[in-house]
Amino acid sequence: MGVKKAILPAAGLGTRFLPATKASPKEMLPIVDKPMIQYAVEEAAACGINEFIIITGRHKRTIEDHFDTVYELEENLKQKGKDTLLEEINRLSHLNFAYIRQGRPLGLGHAILRAWPFVKDEPFAVLLSDDIIAPEDRLLQEMINLYNEIDCPVVALEEVPTEEIHRYGVIAGEKEGENVFRITDLVEKPEPAEAPSNLAIIGRYILTPDIFKVLERMKPGKGGEYQLTDALKDLLRRRSIYGYVFRGKRYDAGDKFGFLQATVELALRSSAVSEKFRSYLIEISERLKTEHS
Ligand code: UTP
Repeated sequence: MGVKKAILPAAGLGTRFLPATKASPKEMLPIVDKPMIQYAVEEAAACGINEFIIITGRHKRTIEDHFDTVYELEENLKQKGKDTLLEEINRLSHLNFAYIRQGRPLGLGHAILRAWPFVKDEPFAVLLSDDIIAPEDRLLQEMINLYNEIDCPVVALEEVPTEEIHRYGVIAGEKEGENVFRITDLVEKPEPAEAPSNLAIIGRYILTPDIFKVLERMKPGKGGEYQLTDALKDLLRRRSIYGYVFRGKRYDAGDKFGFLQATVELALRSSAVSEKFRSYLIEISERLKTEHS
């Protein structure tokens, strides 16, 4: 069965972005001219996914409004002949969105379990929208291709430096192809000395519906949260799980520095501002050089 559905967990507290996330969702912070979550939706839509299940919580209603039709705005743009903008705001109107509240942000595993009634018995993608993948890197499509070949869950991996390993789920695995590992173990947020490798799980997964039964009976893990990594470790006892090593560009936009990097780099690719922005960056880098010399 093909991958047609995606879960986008967006119920976290976004504490690394306080105070911006006190009353507004982190996923709605704009990078250039689009909220973070729209990059993930567009990435999945480019792979033929058309059903989106967004896990939300308190203060997250603007996410629902964002993907809704705004007919008064459409009328206004029509009357003013602003066809390009009209096209832009309607570009995702063929997609279907369902929203489920998580209630309490008890962890990624808990968030994903909420989507079971919508996903039922199909394979599905999970995209964490604060991991922004450069649009020309076709990570999700490559993961779907691998899933279609092997019919096993696939998680995205990235080689990360030792000092950052404690922030991720980390795998042990056996290399089976150019960028493909058969996973033999998973550890959530290990200390560097306990990390089985430098291959960290990043925010893209292709999962099979058997994960829900595992999530349903799991207990809280690190940080008192229901960790998806723990559920995958449990599932590993029954079936093979693969990792696909991503070698393109990812921005960790859930973190202030990563968010700034994503903003700068995506602005440099945006036809609307790139030229002016490039000149501005050159100007300030010259200024910084003279200030530091
Ligand atoms: P993060 O680990 O980035 O957590 O979650 P967070 O709460 O969003 O941010 P910080 O760490 O406090 O700054 C990764 C993704 O999983 C979602 C988040 O919304 C984010 O998209 N998530 C996390 C949930 O939907 N529910 C949870 O219980 C936890």
